[in-house]
Amino acid sequence: MQHFEDNFWHYQNNKLFCENIPIEEIILAEGSPAYIYSKASIIKRCKEFTNAFSEVNHKVFFAVKSNSNLNVIRIIYNMGFGLDVNSGGEFTRAIRAGAHPSRMIMTGVGKTLDEIRMAVENDMLMIKAESKEEVEQINKIAGELGKIAPVALRVNPDIVVQTHPNISTAKSGVKFGMDPAPAMDLYLNRERYPNVEFTGIDVHLGSQILSFDPYFVTLKKLHTFVKRLEEHGLKLKHIDLGGGFGSPYHGGDRFHIQEFGKQAAPLMNDFGCDIFFEPGRFLTANCGAIVSKVLYTKESGSKNIVILDSSMTEILRPILYQSYHDILPVEKDDNRERISYDVVGPVCESSDYLAKGRELQKAKPDDLLALMSAGAYASVMSSNYNVRRKPPEIIVDGDTWHVTRSRETYDYLLYDERVIDDLTAIP
Ligand SMILES: Cc1ncc(COP(=O)(O)O)c(C=O)c1O
Repeated sequence: MQHFEDNFWHYQNNKLFCENIPIEEIILAEGSPAYIYSKASIIKRCKEFTNAFSEVNHKVFFAVKSNSNLNVIRIIYNMGFGLDVNSGGEFTRAIRAGAHPSRMIMTGVGKTLDEIRMAVENDMLMIKAESKEEVEQINKIAGELGKIAPVALRVNPDIVVQTHPNISTAKSGVKFGMDPAPAMDLYLNRERYPNVEFTGIDVHLGSQILSFDPYFVTLKKLHTFVKRLEEHGLKLKHIDLGGGFGSPYHGGDRFHIQEFGKQAAPLMNDFGCDIFFEPGRFLTANCGAIVSKVLYTKESGSKNIVILDSSMTEILRPILYQSYHDILPVEKDDNRERISYDVVGPVCESSDYLAKGRELQKAKPDDLLALMSAGAYASVMSSNYNVRRKPPEIIVDGDTWHVTRSRETYDYLLYDERVIDDLTAIP
């Protein structure tokens, strides 16, 4: 099973460990539910990624949207990666994590003027633009600030990617990027935007991609596009291939990054400029788990239900993408019978489930279960629906572990709200 491939997650005497720490120890101290991440796993994936492109002039920008924990950001940044930030909030977190804007790029289909100003003012390495209007705004803001903003147009290559439709972003008609023709028009009429330097071109095909094909098709399309720009005197400094490199959730493969790097290197080197990547999930998905406690079990019709203390508010992926996450007992008991369960949370929504028809060892209250591969797009999508407190985030580092974010308190959730007597008085 993929969680055990590098031994970052493993069983010792039937007890689940992250690196050298028994999960039970963390939950006894910090309560349940909790997100737990392995630092060694993140480091391993970072090394795999950069090694795969050792023959290519490249820069990697971690997609902060996949996991914006300050210490996760900082570990990856300290591995020499840059950061791809998608909002003013992610930028602020990246700064708090100690990152420098010169190693950041700004993504986002709907950047506000404040966010553009933030990127230009702080001299980010590159800002993506996804429409003519956005280029006009960047040009205006850069002019006001007396700067030249480095811009890459995000182009939609109009290709079909075999992944869940909710995470496919490269087909014409979606909100992301711009069609190649208007993008070409902007590049060719670049003198209209004196405060913008078109430094690159960007694509992002979608997420959880396992095949090389969409990247190869895109590289070839980009090649034709970029050669045409060169004929018109524009030599770009970077081609940004985005992220999307898949991770295993239900057995299966991780994107074969090493092999891809080898096969794609000639095409990439042919551009004669830097190649940028923006992986998120590849680096973090399999590093983490969300550990929850069984509150109750019951039967409903023909179904066995197990109710956990975590729910769609802690991990939305199962209902958003019908995603599969392995569920492992924190203490394995081979003597217990195995039963098919619908695994649900306490939230008042009938769609609030984490798994359906999942065979698990017979559960009883207070059992701990680890829902695996929760290092990407899990805590970042958590919500306070039903006024639930977001769980703590813990990073294990060999023989030690650290609480990097505490469980929210009810006071924290109420910190900026007030009851107004005049408003609530009934005349
Ligand atoms: C523009 C952009 N870059 C990078 C990523 C990271 O994708 P992944 O986590 O699949 O690598 C995303 C994810 O949505 C994205 O929208």
